[in-house]
Amino acid sequence: MGKEFSITPREVAHVETKYRRIVTAVPHPDSLAVLNKLREFEPNSMRGQPPVVWDRAEDIFVYDKYGNRWLDCSSGVLVTNAGHAAPEVRKAISAQVDKPLLHNYCFPSEERALFVEALAGVSPPELKKIFLLTTGSEAVECVIKLSRAHGIKVGGNSKIGIVGFERGFHGRTLGSQQAGGFEGQKSWIVNLDPAIVHAPFPDGYWQTDTSFETFLEAIDKSGLKPENIAGVLMETYQGVGPDFAPKDYVRQLASWCRQNKVVLVFDEVQAGFGRTGKFWGFEHYGVIPDIICCGKGISSSLPLSAVIGREEIMDQFGPGSMTSTHTGNPVCCAAAMASLKKIIRENLTGNAANLEPVLKSGLKRIQAKHPEVVGHITAFGLVGGMQIIKSGHKEPDHNLAHGIIERCFQKGLLLFAPVGAWGQTVKINPPLTIPKDALEEALSVLEEATDEAVAEQYQQPKKKRAGKLHASAPHS
Ligand SMILES: Cc1ncc(COP(=O)(O)O)c(C=O)c1O
Repeated sequence: MGKEFSITPREVAHVETKYRRIVTAVPHPDSLAVLNKLREFEPNSMRGQPPVVWDRAEDIFVYDKYGNRWLDCSSGVLVTNAGHAAPEVRKAISAQVDKPLLHNYCFPSEERALFVEALAGVSPPELKKIFLLTTGSEAVECVIKLSRAHGIKVGGNSKIGIVGFERGFHGRTLGSQQAGGFEGQKSWIVNLDPAIVHAPFPDGYWQTDTSFETFLEAIDKSGLKPENIAGVLMETYQGVGPDFAPKDYVRQLASWCRQNKVVLVFDEVQAGFGRTGKFWGFEHYGVIPDIICCGKGISSSLPLSAVIGREEIMDQFGPGSMTSTHTGNPVCCAAAMASLKKIIRENLTGNAANLEPVLKSGLKRIQAKHPEVVGHITAFGLVGGMQIIKSGHKEPDHNLAHGIIERCFQKGLLLFAPVGAWGQTVKINPPLTIPKDALEEALSVLEEATDEAVAEQYQQPKKKRAGKLHASAPHS
């Protein structure tokens, strides 16, 4: 379980730069009423993020009501690829609201037609059919259903196996959480589906053997045979790192799936819409999956997700049997259309690619300063991460990762709480609109925060020890 951030207002050094402004205690004492109300009425699970009460958010900034402005490198959990509240997106939403058409279930709408056409236009031509949903988890549930239905069609009722990956994340609903690879998060399920199995994810850090044999061995060990497998579900990059698998591994995986009539699914919920410096993350591998599921950055704002796949897989269910109440909500479609146009028009994917070296070198600099606790760093496009370990041991350190993020928050840099199987990763993923100098500023703040958090964790205890020694000195 993750730690909470303190909501006790803390006097911090004031900051006033081109991109950050912190001029009060944080959180501001007047925001406690809202924080406490949320604590009263929401479950504990909602207490995980740094306690700034968002008043408004625009482009790369998040504001509270009290004159403070954070440089946002969370993108509100990798959603706002086109920037927070992009003017084009707001205009599209307002026009849709004023039209008015706010809901139309699965009845046809022009907004849905235009958006699925546009999404097909940026997808591989082989993946022609698109089904819109609301959340990433829902899209994952849908790909499990489609993969299994396809498995049954080509191999009978014993071809229903789904292979996920260790430390993978696909959501928190029944199927998506089982397909994920965080063992600790599945205890509530108890009767886990024996046909959902996991292979090691070849990240090169926690899993040092990155050969495709590890996949085959895991299948073998699971007791399933290739003829029992319906689908393989892989995050294009594992969010935990972020980590891509080796290209060669994925190419072998794709050909194994083809040979065994297994549906290959890339979960692009995080990786899509320009985040990694290519429009889709899987473009880094040079393979085309059978299905993509995506969400988050699809609209840069309102809840929308999509399953994009080959016709023969997507068309398995007849009229009315694969639907959802909010399928392709017209306001969400209008927002997504405006966001997609902005990503393309402003070449935000290119901006992510161009800034990758800046992000990577900033993280490398921090690692070079603190090699004993920054165990692993990666950066692709505009998503990067530092995995924090206990000094000198390859053992995750949630506490220190948390301390670094808390300090960033106090200095006007907003990151979300640490992620990863053990809450060890400090992740940095700004909107793709971020200019170079703002990213450089963010990295300097992250460096300063890391310096301070490491000093507090490792130097203060030393001082205390020195005190004890001093106290015992009279005995010698
Ligand atoms: C790779 C991936 N898949 C699926 C999900 C679940 O999406 P949602 O939270 O919209 O249900 C997430 C969310 O973080 C994700 O990162």
